[in-house]
Amino acid sequence: MSSVTLGSPAIPFAQALPFGADKPWLAPLAGYSDLPFRLLCREYGAAVCETEMVSAKGLLYASPGTEELLHTTPADQPLVGQLFGADPLCLGRATELLQRKGFVWFDLNLGCSVPKVMRQGAGAALLGQEDMLLHAAQTMIHAAGFGRVGFKLRLGLDRTHPVLPDLALRLEDLGAGWISVHPRTAREGFQGKARWEVLPLLAKRLSIPLVASGDLFSAADGLRCLEETKVSAVMYARGALRNPAIFSDHRRLLAGQAPSENDALHIRTMIERHIHLIREHAPQMSSTWKMRSVIPRYVHGLPGARALRQALCSCTTWQELEKILNTFLPT
Ligand SMILES: Cc1cc2nc3c(=O)[nH]c(=O)nc-3n(C[C@H](O)[C@H](O)[C@H](O)COP(=O)(O)O)c2cc1C
Repeated sequence: MSSVTLGSPAIPFAQALPFGADKPWLAPLAGYSDLPFRLLCREYGAAVCETEMVSAKGLLYASPGTEELLHTTPADQPLVGQLFGADPLCLGRATELLQRKGFVWFDLNLGCSVPKVMRQGAGAALLGQEDMLLHAAQTMIHAAGFGRVGFKLRLGLDRTHPVLPDLALRLEDLGAGWISVHPRTAREGFQGKARWEVLPLLAKRLSIPLVASGDLFSAADGLRCLEETKVSAVMYARGALRNPAIFSDHRRLLAGQAPSENDALHIRTMIERHIHLIREHAPQMSSTWKMRSVIPRYVHGLPGARALRQALCSCTTWQELEKILNTFLPT
């Protein structure tokens, strides 16, 4: 099936978004959580996927490349469309526009700490502009409907200005559908350890679901996080980039089974499936550049990974890629 941007008839009714220990999510991942990767993660058992963050302004002004980020298919459900922006009216209108394209679930990025985004007053910068943030939340919820918008938060801009639990509770009062938290501050970026210890109290105080993100590098991490924090669900980010089978491992561990062997055969199968999905759903990615950035993560730790990475640098065609795989990951 070729990729399409959904029109509303493709989603006849909004099913409830699944939350639960056995419903692992794929986190929004700029540059990575595109349609082929989401479909791959769904094949391994991701219960919900989020798009990469999409600029509300870019969407409204039809900036080149924005539309591509929204490509989806009916099999790519349930799907949360993540927006970032600084202007509440713009975010509300972008939500309406996404809704007209068939999206039902939305998320506001309040965690991105990349300078390019923060400088616009978007992402985690909104954590320091609470009135603006709450106004943005209102316009998005007004456009999408009660319970259809989630908010992905960090702990605050820095440690001196913690936003939790108050901000999450206010968003809940406004009609948020769920809250997800990557428990580090914006200033911390990805440094140090994610502070899961803030999550149990927040989970207790919220009536809406809380989804945990942060340092979930393996399915064992995900299960430990669920156990320690009692959140409603976990979302895998870098863990899924390293091994999309993290979702099936999650389900296997829950069922008392061992995770799958992450050996050369498993990795080769995963890579081939990813290539297949790219060629089927994203033919505009005519070159191999995406796989060149993805494969090194998949083979991380395997003997010969370094030589494989080097071989990939000069690879520009699918045929060359196949040859490299045959050399380094023979079937
Ligand atoms: C490459 C990359 C891209 C990301 N893109 C987004 C994004 O578009 N929106 C968002 O809310 N978070 C984004 N994040 C943050 C992740 O969703 C997640 O919250 C974070 O990586 C912490 O989880 P982890 O430690 O398990 O990776 C991104 C993270 C990475 C590594």
